[in-house]
Amino acid sequence: IPRKKLIAGNWKMNKTPADGVALVKEIVAAAGKNNDVDMVVCPPFVAIESVGKALEGSNVKLGAQNMHPEASGAFTGEVSAPMLRAVFATHVILGHSERRAYFAETDAFINKKVLAALKNQLKPILCVGETLAEREAGSTLKVVQTQLEGGLEGVSKEQAATVVIAYEPVWAIGTGKVATTDQAQEVHAFIRGLLVKLFGDAIAAKVRILYGGSMKPSNAPELLAQKDIDGGLIGGAALEARSFLELINAAA
Ligand code: G3H
Repeated sequence: IPRKKLIAGNWKMNKTPADGVALVKEIVAAAGKNNDVDMVVCPPFVAIESVGKALEGSNVKLGAQNMHPEASGAFTGEVSAPMLRAVFATHVILGHSERRAYFAETDAFINKKVLAALKNQLKPILCVGETLAEREAGSTLKVVQTQLEGGLEGVSKEQAATVVIAYEPVWAIGTGKVATTDQAQEVHAFIRGLLVKLFGDAIAAKVRILYGGSMKPSNAPELLAQKDIDGGLIGGAALEARSFLELINAAA
């Protein structure tokens, strides 16, 4: 069975609740019944509940951009998996390169989050990807392997089938510099191979591997046509209904 494509919007630190609701109302009106593509939007925490309400009855799913591994406790400023479940989130982005770079998140910490998300029936979107310096040093695949294996440690086969991986070359994020289709497909195929080793062929064939980094309507069709590119994790182009809808159409 071919993998259903997934288009996920990561709004990052953008949109008030009112702006977010206005945006998803447009998305739902145009694509809410779309069944050909899986769709997720990931608003900032303060907007997540109101955006979730605006998505009710549609096929667009709700995701968070981060979470803490513990269920509750003295972790000022943090949000837990059960809290995300309580507002009907289904997905959570974990290990985004911005969290790794600006908030010093390690593979070990990200792994705790992945396990906590899975325990709470949230689907992790685990992000991996190399910096420009790492690519130029020829260590892209090594970096991706360390992040992937570190992030997925202790994940069972059954759980792995629900995980989504996002390959985001850091040098392509928000820069307008998209990876070439060959560069992207090479890493996606490598990730698929690692998943085969970790979880076997059947599970590896089910896991969606998204590309992220300056994906937009003009470059999406070529990227999405690659064998191991199963969708996109979209930043800038997810902030506007028109471009997000065009990306959904490109994936259909
Ligand atoms: O999570 C999304 C990525 O960081 C991509 O962001 O589409 O603005 O380059 P971008």
